[in-house]
Amino acid sequence: MTTMTNALITGWGMYVPSRIMTNQDIATLVDTSDEWIVSRTGIRERRIAADDETTATLATHASRDALAVASVDANEVDLIILGTCSPDYYMPATAALVARDLGATNAAAFDLQAACSGFVYAMATANGFIRSGMYRNVLVIGVEVLSRFLDWTDRNTCVLFGDGAGAVLMQARDEPGGMTGFQLYTDGTGWEGIIFPAGGSACPTSPQTIAEGGHYVHMAGKDVYRYATRQLAESALAAVRDAGLTMDDIDQFVFHQANLRIIESVGKQLGMPMEKVFVNVEKYGNTSAASVPMALVEAVAAGRIAVGDRILMVAFGAGFTAAAAVVEWTADPERAFLAPGEQTRLGQPQRQLEEVSA
Ligand code: ACO
Repeated sequence: MTTMTNALITGWGMYVPSRIMTNQDIATLVDTSDEWIVSRTGIRERRIAADDETTATLATHASRDALAVASVDANEVDLIILGTCSPDYYMPATAALVARDLGATNAAAFDLQAACSGFVYAMATANGFIRSGMYRNVLVIGVEVLSRFLDWTDRNTCVLFGDGAGAVLMQARDEPGGMTGFQLYTDGTGWEGIIFPAGGSACPTSPQTIAEGGHYVHMAGKDVYRYATRQLAESALAAVRDAGLTMDDIDQFVFHQANLRIIESVGKQLGMPMEKVFVNVEKYGNTSAASVPMALVEAVAAGRIAVGDRILMVAFGAGFTAAAAVVEWTADPERAFLAPGEQTRLGQPQRQLEEVSA
């Protein structure tokens, strides 16, 4: 019997900027209110990158923690896949800057653009590289600094998004676990639903595009909402079927944190009890490609995920894209707290929870 190589998650990390922007803060910029934002989205606050922080610096912090948890040196990493739609530069890839900052001198590195679905797309890509035998240690990152791409005079968009980073290390192992089912989905007919209209080859930057704000996120909120709620549920079901499971077999749901109403609606369609659904959108807003790994990391830190648990991750984003993955968790959640020299920030959510419950 041949043994199958699996891609197990052995390290995880997240990083958010320290600056908190509350709904009240935003209400001083645009005509909105805490009540409107909370009732429509569930978001109470979001993190905003400091002037000296970029997408690459956030990603590097999260990645260092993921490597520390896995006890893997940066120079052992074979490949870095970084999901983002708010890169440091169009060129070079932000993944190259992260490789530089980590000292990952033996790693191939590229960015993957599937908007909010980017992290789950990147995980599935890493899974393919590992299971085919091409690479053994793959760092998968979801990161955004969307605050730099928002029109802070447009209340339709600026209230929704936030900055952050999450990362996992996926490693080749001859033992069961890791990604056991997935679905990647794209419907390009929805390309205009969420878009940076200018700055690409279709509409190059010009004084006029800048005057019109074409370099900012534009979104048809209602269309996105309708499409997202339907497609998230369909992708979730497809991934669970691909894993040979049913919804009842899933222990924890880690959804893209765009909007509490979307999460609840998908939960209802799938008949999932909300206590199995991890939610942190109230603290971070929609961090796009970073939201799934950040929610995963906080779910682990909060003691919501144990060895042997099956986790369903589902995301939806511009394109339209959607991605879902079933992952069997194999790592000791305590590893995050045992990392040498308190290098990781992963103790923080846990400590915060303890403070709240004390
Ligand atoms: N504060 C106060 N009023 C507002 C705000 C605001 N921040 N934003 C919009 N409004 C107003 C609108 O102007 C509108 O007023 P009008 O009727 O006078 O024109 C009214 O509120 C209702 O607006 P709707 O768009 O109908 O509000 P809705 O209940 O649909 O909620 C929302 C809007 C929250 C954006 C919703 O459509 C949504 O969640 N969409 C999905 C967004 C999303 O998750 N996008 C990301 C997807 S993933 C990615 O790849 C980025």
